[in-house]
Amino acid sequence: MTSARPAAVIILAAGEGTRMKSATPKVLHRIGGRSLLGHAIHAAREAQPDHVAVVVRHQRERVVEHIGQIDPQATIADQDEIKGTGRAAECALLALPEDLTGTVLVTMGDVPLLAGSTLTALAEEHASSGAAVTVITATLEDPSGYGRIVRDPAGGVEGIVEHKDCTPEQLGIHEINSGIYAFDVTVLRDALGRVTSDNAQGEKYLTDVLGLARQAGRDVAAHLVDDLWQTEGVNDRVQLARLGKELNRRLLEQHMRAGVSIVDPDTTWVDADVSIGQDTTILPGTQLLGATSIGAGATIGPDTTLTDTEVGDGAEVKRTESLLAVIGAGATVGPFSYLRPGTELGANGKIGGFVETKNAVIGEGAKVPHLTYCGDAEIGEGANIGAGTIFANYDGVAKHKTRIGRHSFVGSNSVLVAPVDVADGAYVGAGSALTGEVGPGQIAVARGNQRNIDGWVARRRAGTKTAEAAEAAARHTQENTTEGQDQA
Ligand code: UD1
Ligand code: CA
Repeated sequence: MTSARPAAVIILAAGEGTRMKSATPKVLHRIGGRSLLGHAIHAAREAQPDHVAVVVRHQRERVVEHIGQIDPQATIADQDEIKGTGRAAECALLALPEDLTGTVLVTMGDVPLLAGSTLTALAEEHASSGAAVTVITATLEDPSGYGRIVRDPAGGVEGIVEHKDCTPEQLGIHEINSGIYAFDVTVLRDALGRVTSDNAQGEKYLTDVLGLARQAGRDVAAHLVDDLWQTEGVNDRVQLARLGKELNRRLLEQHMRAGVSIVDPDTTWVDADVSIGQDTTILPGTQLLGATSIGAGATIGPDTTLTDTEVGDGAEVKRTESLLAVIGAGATVGPFSYLRPGTELGANGKIGGFVETKNAVIGEGAKVPHLTYCGDAEIGEGANIGAGTIFANYDGVAKHKTRIGRHSFVGSNSVLVAPVDVADGAYVGAGSALTGEVGPGQIAVARGNQRNIDGWVARRRAGTKTAEAAEAAARHTQENTTEGQDQA
């Protein structure tokens, strides 16, 4: 169906969105990990147009910068001081090639649940019917605020009347204009040249194009959609949350249908760009955000937030917070682990309870099981980092690196004052404060030696329960020794 491919999709996004009560432009507010405009651009691209043009005006610089990040190919169209959706579309045509022919779709930057497949279906229906304009409409119980679809006695679309311009009779119409259309570009260009601002709001209405096309003897068609969520725009933060929740529900449903088990969809949030492999189980209270990808057969959660994190097949990640980390296949993480950017845990490795990692490359099968800060580290395959080890990577001025070799063993409660280099197959004695190198096969013990002072308690803590216990223990030992001698 390449014939139905639109020449361009125009996204209207110049409006202010005052009801958001926000310093951030409305179209930059986010649901499902993407801006509202990001969702609109994504849907537009799915229709495979030659051009995507975004009409901007309010907080232009911020919106343009954002477009540059998510879709640098998009055409920026600046709207001037003339107001209205009609003027916005006109400005887009001015920014697009003059010789554009065929179908142009117009959509809005604040309708995030509109699917690319709906735009494709609109373009296909438009092309096959030969209409000059096809508008997506919906039937609403409460149509207030929307433009109404006015039909002739035969059911053909005559035009659209804005709520504020409706007669009392027209206010009773429940079929509304979604604001999403397919136009024959020559009809659009010609009609916009003739649209005036002679209406209740003094704006140049895009909706007037339909009536003008009809008056010129061209067909105007309506494409009624049942899925009302797809045409719902965000006007305030209540709607933002409502649409965010519905988007999440839809995304979770897609994952479940593709073979992912989601134990509690009500407490699970997954962003639009997340991928999850088959037979993975997501436990309650889990958020998978950004560009997170999860392999097959993994178990994530409960109560876990992974952002831009890659998890391999069969890994288990429990009660964990992670940002920009890689967790290898078969690895286990958590509970209560904090993985910061640059963490790379090898296959079958382990990051355990109350462990914080940052810029740490941890080899295959290596383990950092308990109560550790591990920053700026390179840990070899099969190494074991004892409970309570601290990688002291920062000297107050600069960060330094610690290297632990393959199959080496760091004893509990050690502090590794970086730069530290422990070779392959080496040991660090528990409680060491290490400041240098350890060679292959060596053990480094960097702590005071044990010193036992006889009679200290009797002399310095006389009369305490401790002293009594010491005396009793001494008697007991003596009796045992005597008995032993008796038997001998
Ligand atoms: C518009 C339609 C209305 C439809 C409704 C659906 C017109 C005249 N009316 O009304 O029939 O039912 O959408 O939601 O088109 N925009 C610009 N430049 C402007 C004005 C608006 O880019 O000068 C953009 C806005 O950012 C927004 C979209 O166009 O994304 C719609 O504008 P809005 O003012 O919300 O139009 P409505 O009055 O809701
Ligand atoms: Ca609106």
